[in-house]
Amino acid sequence: MKPNLQVEIGTMLMANPVTTASGTFGFGPEYTPYLDIERLGAITVKGTTLEPREGNPTPRLVETPSGILNSIGLQNPGVDYLIEHYAPYFRQLKTNVIVNIAGNTVEEYANLAAKLNSVPGIAALEVNISCPNVKKGGLAFGSDPVSAAEVTKAVRQATTLPVIIKLSPNVTDIAAIASAVEEAGADALSVINTLLGMAIDIRKRKPVLGNIMGGLSGPAVKPVAVRAVWQVYQRVKIPIIGMGGIMNAADALEFILAGATAVAVGTASFINPRAAIEVLEGIERYLVENNIDDIKELVGAAHG
Ligand SMILES: Cc1cc2nc3c(=O)[nH]c(=O)nc-3n(C[C@H](O)[C@H](O)[C@H](O)COP(=O)(O)O)c2cc1C
Repeated sequence: MKPNLQVEIGTMLMANPVTTASGTFGFGPEYTPYLDIERLGAITVKGTTLEPREGNPTPRLVETPSGILNSIGLQNPGVDYLIEHYAPYFRQLKTNVIVNIAGNTVEEYANLAAKLNSVPGIAALEVNISCPNVKKGGLAFGSDPVSAAEVTKAVRQATTLPVIIKLSPNVTDIAAIASAVEEAGADALSVINTLLGMAIDIRKRKPVLGNIMGGLSGPAVKPVAVRAVWQVYQRVKIPIIGMGGIMNAADALEFILAGATAVAVGTASFINPRAAIEVLEGIERYLVENNIDDIKELVGAAHG
């Protein structure tokens, strides 16, 4: 018998628990030569802002021994472009599309949510209050429980779509932020965004990234991410989408056992564009091999 892989993130039903991490999967069509994206439970698309953004000065990516540092700075064509050019494509897809949003002010987050609310083809909003690469509109909101709750409340009031709040690991107590946004009306949480880091070119004796600091992602951050999911799971009742260094199905299963209902594959797609599908296939194989007929049995199972 085929195991049941269905999970729910708020009112969004996912055929399986695998999605992509925002900013690592474009808007979807970029990956269609490599995999059938409709097999994924959802795709999460690049962060979108009210106005188009050019992003940060180059260089914006640097490899580290077990991950990458990026300081893209939310380069994107803006929400009107997304609605006009990508939403018709989203509508045809037989999977959920999660749109990631970021703003400079609480009002901007609310405006984005209101604009996207009535657009067919969008299944949920992921609210980025955790981007370390922009001066405003990112981490400033996500590092304080009061302002994190304020953004959540404003987005909640502006939309009927499921609201997923994306948390930062660059805080002292991630569970306190999780609890505040749950209370403010979040339907789910994404855990985690990138960790603030930097690299220095010893020949030039200067920081490598144009923006000096960037967000670290990939295998280096996985233990931090698993720990964050574990702590958040202990504090909140709403579902968690776990992410941070998932390279294969074994990594994804760690997140699920720590308390994630769904998982997102990010940096791994840059190395292997089929990574998300391979993660899905590996999870399914694990369930079959271990005679587990429902993925939900594994969610948080490591807590005993
Ligand atoms: C190049 C790049 C761009 C990203 N852009 C965004 C973004 O626009 N919005 C967002 O919420 N997270 C963004 N992220 C963070 C990822 O969605 C994810 O949370 C993080 O990379 C950890 O997962 P990973 O280690 O599997 O990549 C970006 C990450 C990378 C590497």
